[in-house]
Amino acid sequence: MVDPATRIIELRDVIRKHDYQYYILDTPLISDSEYDVLMQELITLEKENPHLITTDSPSQRVGGQALGKFHTVVHRSPLLSLDNAFSLEDLREFDRRVSKLVKNVSYMAELKIDGVSIALTYENGVLVNAATRGDGVVGEDVTANIKTVKNIPLKLRDPLPRLEIRGEIYMPRQEFLRLNQEKEETGARVFANPRNAAAGSLRQLDPAVTARRALAGFIYDILYIEGAAITNQQEALQYLRQLGLPVNPEARFCCDIENAYDYSQEYVQLRHELAYDIDGVVIKLNSFAERGELGQTARSPRWAIAYKFPAEEKETRLLDVEINVGRTGIIAPTAIFESVFLAGTTVSRASMHNFDLVKEKDIRIGDIIVVHKAGDIIPEIIKPRDDKRTGNEVEILPPEQCPTCSSQVVRLAGEVAYRCENINCPARLKESLIFFASRSAMDIDGLGPALIEQMVEKNIVHKVDDLYALKEEDLIHLERMGPKSCANLINAIETSKSRPLYRLITALGIRNVGAKSARLLTEHIHNIDDFRTITREELVTIPEIGLIMAESIVKFFAEPRNIETIENLKLAGVNTTERVVQSDNQILAGKAFVLTGTLDSMTRDETGEKIQLLGGKVSSSVSKKTDYVVAGANPGSKYDKALQLGVKIITEEELLAMLKQ
Ligand code: IVH
Repeated sequence: MVDPATRIIELRDVIRKHDYQYYILDTPLISDSEYDVLMQELITLEKENPHLITTDSPSQRVGGQALGKFHTVVHRSPLLSLDNAFSLEDLREFDRRVSKLVKNVSYMAELKIDGVSIALTYENGVLVNAATRGDGVVGEDVTANIKTVKNIPLKLRDPLPRLEIRGEIYMPRQEFLRLNQEKEETGARVFANPRNAAAGSLRQLDPAVTARRALAGFIYDILYIEGAAITNQQEALQYLRQLGLPVNPEARFCCDIENAYDYSQEYVQLRHELAYDIDGVVIKLNSFAERGELGQTARSPRWAIAYKFPAEEKETRLLDVEINVGRTGIIAPTAIFESVFLAGTTVSRASMHNFDLVKEKDIRIGDIIVVHKAGDIIPEIIKPRDDKRTGNEVEILPPEQCPTCSSQVVRLAGEVAYRCENINCPARLKESLIFFASRSAMDIDGLGPALIEQMVEKNIVHKVDDLYALKEEDLIHLERMGPKSCANLINAIETSKSRPLYRLITALGIRNVGAKSARLLTEHIHNIDDFRTITREELVTIPEIGLIMAESIVKFFAEPRNIETIENLKLAGVNTTERVVQSDNQILAGKAFVLTGTLDSMTRDETGEKIQLLGGKVSSSVSKKTDYVVAGANPGSKYDKALQLGVKIITEEELLAMLKQ
């Protein structure tokens, strides 16, 4: 048997190699579950041999206790800010100033990532410190939190004696949307934009909280280096990437300022397609020697400038406020305004999140409002133009009674949300049913909001399990329901009975438990009855399941009404166990699939489930180990990668033929 010390070193090297492949080269060589197996082996060995744990071990991303407060860090030299330019003329002016002192000027143009500025220090290749910029002179020590950011390496690929670098920590838009949705569902305060969300997540005293938010980083500046000689920014970015640090791939060498301006204009168009927010581009003199000649002012260097994009904001008129009741009873105001074209689409509605925010921003019906898209996606009111008021505007107040069932509206201690507590409220039932039948939950084809609304209004369905008792005579009188569509719907409901357990767990709508967490949970808990007895302490031992989620789960299964629903679903024949042993037919055993584009006959989730049932694996990215890439309509970059790596590409029909064998 290999001795643990040797195996631990081996595992760390292999895991680091896979981190580099995944986060830096974007070409994973193994699937997520294969990676998890390696990590689990490392964690187990380290647990058995605690004296062998080192701070740079890939297992040490979430270690240590919550802090009482952040310690301050004085930066080696002040972390500067940048002067801003808003037009081509401003850029030409900057270029004239530079060209007075420097001949043959060339620039690097980079995206200006809208996140939180940080400084990292690596000693002998190991991450030893991470600090926020703070006021530029003194920042806060956020080392434990930065260690949870998965694309920031704990160890560099070259152990150079000392490296101090600067970069930006950001929250990808998708994660921002997920987090805000989660916050909205729990009645907590939402973040205004991904930058605030990144800042809020980084300033958590408990690193375990930061770890649950999928933050990422880009590194763009060398502050200090020992052990390598770098002469310009282009080289610096290449070198940082070689060390295993995440460097933004969109940076471009520009031989003059006009080129740099063209770059900025290109990204004014492309910004909406990026996975993260940018608020401009940064144009930097390439040569370090020339930078030295230009020097800096107290606030900013003379060799760089930020070209700020115009904010995507529009003014419109607030026409009305709609009050919606969500499935958890949260009562939320939605603004209805005159439609405007904003960041690529026409919008006329925006969630106002909660009544505290409405009051804080003092928004009134009839106001001229300034709107933008948070995270470039979600329309939001920034503020009213109170200077444009006529005096006829109407204040927006929280309702005293639920607009649907007239129950008294309550506000729980510590929550910003107002709630309707009547679990039989038709609005809540409607939302619960929509969620239950949705694609990420039980995926009941044909059961959409319009039909559900009718079912609730006509008293055909009073609780989710009633769906499984529906017969043609219940449905035939509903609008647009003929015998054929009734049969189709009943069929779809029947099919949903055999969905995997994680879908049912998602569909139950347990607070804080989304589809991803439901999958994680059912990897460990294979029977719904086991959820009834599991404790908080046992739940938090499952990777990525935190205390808040554990508490929600325990609370949900302690509620007799929920148990009644589950028992009724069981009686109706809904699957409540995870089939650990899959189909006898394992024809796809050992085969790795990647799906891209839209498939005609099944959703991607369904296709994935079928492949897994037959022993195959589905991963999210293409590597040399992928056996088949299934290309649907409008395939994405995975298709190109498959071509590049020579991976076999098959059509949906070819896949269906395989599944039928
Ligand atoms: S260079 C001395 N490059 O923008 C030069 N900054 O107002 C240091 N930022 O505080 C900055 N992306 O947080 C640079 N590619 C990039 C950047 C970037 C975002 C932020 C940074 C800085 C602010 C400047």
